Order: sequence, then C-alpha cells, then structure tokens
Amino acid sequence: MGVSGVIESIKDERIAAARALATRAGRMAAGRCLIEGVSLIRQAVAAGAGLEYVLCAAGADEPALGAELAGAGVPVYAVRDGLMRKITGGTKPVGWVAVAAWSGEVGPAAPYGDFAVVCEGVADPGNLGTIVRTARALGVRDVVLTDEATDLSSRRVLDAARGAVLGCRVRRFADPEGAVASLREAGFQIVVTSPRGSHVQSMAPLRGRKLALVVGSETDGVGAATLAAADLVVQIPMAGAVESLNVGVAAGISIYELRMGMILSMLTDRIRDTLGRNLTLGGHLVRQAFDAHLRRIGDLDSAQAVLLMVLACERSAPLDRLRRDVGVDTEELASLLAPLRDRGYVTTTGDGPDPGGPAEPAAGITAEGERAVAGLWAVQERVEEELYAGFTPEEREQLRDLLHRVQENAIRMAEAGDRDRDRDGDGDGGPPPAR
Ligand SMILES: C[S@@+](CC[C@H](N)C(=O)[O-])C[C@H]1O[C@@H](n2cnc3c(N)ncnc32)[C@H](O)[C@@H]1O
Repeated sequence: MGVSGVIESIKDERIAAARALATRAGRMAAGRCLIEGVSLIRQAVAAGAGLEYVLCAAGADEPALGAELAGAGVPVYAVRDGLMRKITGGTKPVGWVAVAAWSGEVGPAAPYGDFAVVCEGVADPGNLGTIVRTARALGVRDVVLTDEATDLSSRRVLDAARGAVLGCRVRRFADPEGAVASLREAGFQIVVTSPRGSHVQSMAPLRGRKLALVVGSETDGVGAATLAAADLVVQIPMAGAVESLNVGVAAGISIYELRMGMILSMLTDRIRDTLGRNLTLGGHLVRQAFDAHLRRIGDLDSAQAVLLMVLACERSAPLDRLRRDVGVDTEELASLLAPLRDRGYVTTTGDGPDPGGPAEPAAGITAEGERAVAGLWAVQERVEEELYAGFTPEEREQLRDLLHRVQENAIRMAEAGDRDRDRDGDGDGGPPPAR
C-alpha cells in the first residue's frame, strides 16, 4: 500500500503533530488540518489539497488509495492499533487520516472571481460545509466570513463540504460592515437574502458581472446593518406555514438561480453586441434618419434615393450590379424601381419579355430623375453631417475604412461559401446573393 514506515509510539512527532490539530487554535498555529476517512482524503486530493502525510491504522487496508497516494508522492505511515483513536478522538474508529496544509484564508487584496458567497454569522458546521460544497459545485470559489469566530477547518465542516473547503478562497473580515465595504469597492453588487426580501429573487434586477450573495445566521438572519447596505434584498418565495428555509438550502437555491441569471444576461449582452446585429441595427437607424429628412422634401424613401443617386453617377447600370451596390435582393430591387419608373425617373431595359432587347437587364436615369437627384444631395450631406456629429475628420476616415474592411471580409466569406457549395454540387446555378 505504499507505506513508508510503521509508527508505534504516541510520542512520535507525526502523531503529536496530528493530535495538535484537534482544536482550532492548534490548526491555526500549525497552518494544517486533519482530513479523516478514505473518501474525504480522495476528495481532498481531487480538490488539489496539499497532503503532507497520511496515517493508516494497522489492518485498514486500502490498496488503491495507498497506490494513489504513493503516485502523488504523499508518504503513508502505518500506525499501531489504538493509536489512531488518540488522534481522531471520536467514538467511531477511523482507518485513515491525512495531515493537510490549511491553505486557510487569502488577504482582502487577492483577486476575486465574479461571484462570492458571504456567510454572515452562519454557525452550524453542517450548514457551513453544505454552503461551501454547493458553491464549489456551482463554480464559486470565493467565500467571505464576517467575524473572527467562524471556523471552516473543523472536522464537521470538512466532512459536510466533502473536502471542498480546501479548494476555496476564504476571506475573513472582522465585521459585516468591513466585508460589504470591501466587496463593494471590488465592484460587487451586494445581494442579501431574507425571507422578507423586497424583490422576488428570480426577478431581481441584476446589474453587473460581479455579485456577492449574503446569507445570514440560522437564528437571526442577516443583520440590520448589512440589510441597510444591500443593493438588493431578495427572497425565495415560500408557500405554507414556514418562517424560513434552512440557510444551506436557501444558499443552494440562490447561488444556482443567480448564477443562471448572470449567465443568461451575459449571453444576452453578447448577442446584443454581435457585429452583424450592430451593423444591421446601424443600417436600419441610418435609413430611418435619412427617411425622416427625405419626407420633408418629397415622397422618396432612403432606399429609392440611394438607388437614384447610384444611377445618377453611373447613368445606367446592369440590375445585378445595382442590386449589389444598393444592398438588396432581386425582388426588393424590382419593388424599388417600379415607383421610380412610374414617376418617370428611371427606365429599365431587358427585364421584360422583349426578345430583341439587350441580354442583360439594366436601368438608366432620365432627365426628370436627374432633377430629383439634384435635391437629394443636399439632404444626403446634411444627414451625414449629423450622423458624424462629434467625430474628428480622422475618426470619420477610420470608420469608413473599418466598415469597408468588414464589407470586404464579408464578400470574401460569402464567395468562398458559394465556391464550396458549387464544388459540392449543391448549387442551383441561381444568381449570387445580394452583396
Ligand atoms: C433560517 S434563515 C434565518 C431566519 C431568520 N429568522 C430571518 O428572519 O432572517 C437563515 C438564512 O437563510 C436565508 N433564507 C432562508 N429562507 C429564505 C427565503 N425564503 N428567502 C431568502 N433567503 C432565505 C437567509 O439568508 C437567512 O438569513
């Protein structure tokens, strides 16, 4: 089993050191804690705890664990019968005990993740362990204590947490006020839980990306000072004649629900911030602004105005190219051209059943159309000036350049997609999409 030696005497320094860890003062002085039992030792190894050595009672064979510990370079010592009980002190015989470094508590300046659980006066070791275990299971490492007395290194807490305490970043403050002030300074939204919270937790307006959840003591709950300092006080609605939930259960529900809320709001932010959405929205808003100005001088809308201006530059253009320049598909182009043709601003050729006409359908501008365009340039310029309000000339240039580069990339990507499709034989030979 990878045993490095056998200890016979209670005076052996490894036994003495392990026995000193029975009290909190001993654990804090030594910077170590005791981990009892095979499964807890395994969980501690999995949590990355630094095991210094392991003691096992004679006859408590666990060959697999022995091999795992040997593989991890942890010395294992066999201990003579009866000596183990002197270490653990309990009535139940314990076959395996590990002495682990108590990574203990980090300083207030250590970096935080985006979610912290604050235990204000939670006293029961089972509840503390449950909260830490649930927090770790839901990806939360930061645990904040608001007094000097709460002890996370005891056997009962370690047991209830199934060793998860050893992978936590624990911060300790002398009082709740200090904890809240420090968390707020670190950018956390302070969300306090109470059976009488003013917000239903699932609908709480979560603000940012960092959230500190405060749970309170089994008897009195969260204190008045923390309630007053909270950004939000939330409740988990309860049905029936129950005054409150067990704090471990409440913490589990709250961590899960609030973490999910944060993840969903982050996803929504990401979707809102995609390049495609921003460009589409930007294009829509610019068209609206242009339309609003155009309505003051006539009955053209922005898409028709752009089409007329393109034609004014080109005199006439194939419909396929027009479609790309204006950024519409074939059907949209037809519905833009029809009213312009009706007003005598444009003519179209080759798009009807005319066997003698040119092969490629095209549109051209009339003298009437040119007169209409003359009035449009001024509007176009005014709209652009307003849209670029607050931009320096360099910024305008940069924005134009960036947008062109995005457009070029998009064209390249779409063309590569078309080529792939044609190569795979899926192409229907139809016209390329509007660009
Ligand atoms: C047993 S309760 C405390 C009960 C205490 N009498 C009170 O009124 O707050 C312990 C902690 O669990 C949390 N809790 C229990 N029930 C809750 C609920 N329905 N909604 C939100 N938090 C709750 C709170 O953090 C509370 O401080």
